[in-house]
Amino acid sequence: MKHGGNIYRFAQQVGCKPEAVLDFSANINPEQALDPASLLPIQLGPYADPDYTLLKQALKARYPHPNGVEMEVFNGASAAIFALLRRLQPRDLVLYAPLYVEYAKIAGQLGCTLHTIDRFADLHAEVPENSTVIFVNPSTPDGRLYAMQELLAQWRQKHCTILVDESFLDFCIADSVADQITQYDRLYVIKSLSKFYGCAGIRIGFILAAAQAIDALKRFEPAWKLSTFDMAYMRQALANQPYIEQTRRQTAKRREVLQQALEDSGLFETIYPGQANFLLAKLSFDGDGYLLQERLAPSRLLIRVCDNFAGLNKSHVRFAVKDEQAIAQLTHALKTIPQNVF
Ligand SMILES: Cc1ncc(COP(=O)(O)O)c(C=O)c1O
Repeated sequence: MKHGGNIYRFAQQVGCKPEAVLDFSANINPEQALDPASLLPIQLGPYADPDYTLLKQALKARYPHPNGVEMEVFNGASAAIFALLRRLQPRDLVLYAPLYVEYAKIAGQLGCTLHTIDRFADLHAEVPENSTVIFVNPSTPDGRLYAMQELLAQWRQKHCTILVDESFLDFCIADSVADQITQYDRLYVIKSLSKFYGCAGIRIGFILAAAQAIDALKRFEPAWKLSTFDMAYMRQALANQPYIEQTRRQTAKRREVLQQALEDSGLFETIYPGQANFLLAKLSFDGDGYLLQERLAPSRLLIRVCDNFAGLNKSHVRFAVKDEQAIAQLTHALKTIPQNVF
């Protein structure tokens, strides 16, 4: 399975309903900030506000940014990534791998010269002058949180256009690089709300950049990209302040339990130190993640094999941090797998 989260196909394969899948493959918070049943009444007749005023206000309150920095919203961060790269048309594109697979997908369509930097082995490798660099922080699929200052300075020195994807930053206690946009107007911050707010079915993501960069981007955007329903849901979810700290704390606690379960299984030679809502692990003896996936499927457990991430192979598997009950089921299922089976 190329992406995480295709619970529909998996459910068909194992003969259960999609709701019954214990989906460890997609990095989505199992909690939500808002029960859709408590959504305030909305008017679906008229077109939504084409300026997204109330949504943008709620986003700015949640993710403050200085004057001179503007925002454009998209129906999901994936749409934002595609729109931005289509607009920038980079000649040289530098991907810090491994990273979210959609970046390589759009890069392949753009006809640019692709440079891949292995951030595990060579984080501070030279980048071409005037290139466009893409960095995900915390990274996927391993969840490592990077200190960005040195990297930003290195890229600025080379006059790079910089895209930092902070879709998982809310799970960590760390500052966004968005404040630096006022000092460097070729910096873009991309963010998905699907992960932290546990609502991948609501399609909202955004880009923060210098005002003129956002103006240029908007010129190629259609009106009414976001639905009234999605915006109303997100505004109310963003207003739930206690959810933020609660989610961070709960995720950290559950991640520890998950980590312990993976360690205790004895199946993995490495569990990467992640600080987001997922953990990457490498099977011992270059084991086959697809065999592990097969073994777990009868228990309705779906995991992500990471062989389509640059630099990783099928012995790398990723587990999202789910709730205690789901982790307990995974723990039990892992224990039943003999250590030499792969
Ligand atoms: C790093 C990263 N950025 C962006 C996205 C896309 O998120 P969205 O659901 O908002 O399209 C994902 C989804 O997996 C992701 O992992």
